[in-house]
Amino acid sequence: MQYVKLGSTGLDVSRICLGCMTYGVPDRGTHEWTLDEDASRPLIQRALEAGVNFFDTADVYSDGTSEEIVGRALADFGRRDEIVLATKVHGRMRPGPNGGGLSRKAIMTGIDHSLRRLGTDYVDLYQIHRWDPYTPVEETMEALHDLVRAGKVRYLGASSMYAWQFSKAQYTAERHGWTKFVSMQNHYNLLYREEEREMLPLCADQGVGVLPWSPLARGRLTRDWDTTTERSSHDAFGGTLYQDGDRAVVEAVTRIAEERGVPRAQVALAWLLRQDTVTAPIVGASRAGHLDDAVAAVALELSDKETEELQRPYAPHPVSGH
Ligand SMILES: NC(=O)c1ccc[n+]([C@@H]2O[C@H](COP(=O)([O-])OP(=O)(O)OC[C@H]3O[C@@H](n4cnc5c(N)ncnc54)[C@H](OP(=O)(O)O)[C@@H]3O)[C@@H](O)[C@H]2O)c1
Repeated sequence: MQYVKLGSTGLDVSRICLGCMTYGVPDRGTHEWTLDEDASRPLIQRALEAGVNFFDTADVYSDGTSEEIVGRALADFGRRDEIVLATKVHGRMRPGPNGGGLSRKAIMTGIDHSLRRLGTDYVDLYQIHRWDPYTPVEETMEALHDLVRAGKVRYLGASSMYAWQFSKAQYTAERHGWTKFVSMQNHYNLLYREEEREMLPLCADQGVGVLPWSPLARGRLTRDWDTTTERSSHDAFGGTLYQDGDRAVVEAVTRIAEERGVPRAQVALAWLLRQDTVTAPIVGASRAGHLDDAVAAVALELSDKETEELQRPYAPHPVSGH
């Protein structure tokens, strides 16, 4: 495994981050395709054995049970000091007033519940899952800064939003001397490259680490366009992100994978890992082989010609996933 600094911080993260949205009690929350605890634990253990030190989950994943499963597995198979544990706040955790969002109350309540579920007394990277248009950004950034001061959080990160929103949050924090975000977790892969217009140049300019979510387009880059899986047939959100023209990109991935004699997932991840802006793709692994491919992709170097071939069929998409 290779390790890199997360943006301009001193924090070492593996070039593959394990996406833990895959792990959770299937009948809790909105992802009925998740793996239960018994099926999840060997994959988390295998990731640790492969040198992955970076794990991403969220309070909302499977109604908090992803955090619980991940927390127990990391405690049993890993060493806390070596692990970079990331989770998120913003999603709705209960109905009614103050059940979600980025108010001071929601953030202060959210971190304590996440820490309890994760079984730890600090989170390495605490990320706002989305922008909250109903809370003043000053309130959000000061509350997040207070978590850092309280020792509950080491670093702050953000996730999918417009570049102007991210920029506003950053300059608000800077003006007040509060902690700024060190990372952006956004939707970026060979089928969705709209982030190359504004967000990625902003992150490069500001030294912000980039952690692409759904780097394999939720599996679409790993198989023939018309193939469905247990997950894809239940993945309502994933169904909104891609369009029929993306088939040509998948065909380019297929051609290069065949020429190289490697699985398609390796080619799609190698392309992302080659992008200067990308720190670590957050890979979803529902089988052991998925992890092996992710690890192998770190060493797969694509040529300029192959890169051009993969990029050529791209057609712009409406902005989505925010
Ligand atoms: N911030 C956000 O808003 C946000 C949004 C989405 C995700 N995330 C984060 O990103 C992580 C990854 O998301 P994701 O699961 O959608 O990512 P992904 O890596 O694009 O998709 C994972 C899926 O791709 C397939 N796959 C993976 N490796 C494969 C391989 N080697 N060969 C064949 N198929 C393979 C599997 O599909 P099948 O299971 O169908 O076989 C797997 O479930 C999440 O766990 C979460 O931490 C964040």
